[in-house]
Amino acid sequence: MSLLRSERIHSTLLALYEDAYQRTQETKKLKTPRSGLTPEEQFELKKKAYMAISYECGELLYGLARSNDSKNIVEFGMSFGLSTLFLATALKENQGHKIITTEYFQEKADQALQNFERAGLSEIIECRVGDALETLSTNLPEQVDFLFLDGAKSLYGDILKMVEPRLRKGSLVVSDNTNHKGMEEHLAYLRDPANGYTSTAINTLTERAPGHHEISIKL
Ligand SMILES: C[S@@+](CC[C@H](N)C(=O)[O-])C[C@H]1O[C@@H](n2cnc3c(N)ncnc32)[C@H](O)[C@@H]1O
Repeated sequence: MSLLRSERIHSTLLALYEDAYQRTQETKKLKTPRSGLTPEEQFELKKKAYMAISYECGELLYGLARSNDSKNIVEFGMSFGLSTLFLATALKENQGHKIITTEYFQEKADQALQNFERAGLSEIIECRVGDALETLSTNLPEQVDFLFLDGAKSLYGDILKMVEPRLRKGSLVVSDNTNHKGMEEHLAYLRDPANGYTSTAINTLTERAPGHHEISIKL
């Protein structure tokens, strides 16, 4: 049986998805539309928002990391750590080293660390707090088997460039929210065979809107 179904990890994930749902409901009761909020209010909201991948996307990340036997994973954009938990579970089953993940807000990182503890996965997760452009600029493992991009969309290309020299043949780059504005350049780079990837768009179907992702394999 997959470790994802173990009582400790499964119950942590379910509780966090329930919390994310409740928080979204509370946000909906606030002023609408969100564009009516001041920049300060929007900033405060971002600190509390999960913006997590769906469970279905989590299963996909887990399966991909298992299938390429990821031993070292880098994640851009942790939030409360839901995607991190799926990736860390795969890493543990692969008997890997660690997942390095990044989050801008200290408050989110504090909560995420508690979530990792609850799932029993803290030991293989290293959380770097601050701007990922800085926190990922040093101390990366020699080889990175999996890069998950889910932070500020405008930085996907920059983060990829930083990690790219460490990707091996068969390493995976998964980009989330590829339907967002401004992704064209990043996707064109990944899809240009001259850059050494084979890359394709994929959707995950959920009860809510479908998720839009790009899966790129380093050749
Ligand atoms: C979409 S959420 C990540 C959701 C998470 N992957 C999950 O599935 O639970 C994006 C997160 O990236 C963080 N972020 C955005 N830009 C960042 C940056 N430059 N450095 C570090 N974190 C950043 C945001 O604060 C936010 O919490």
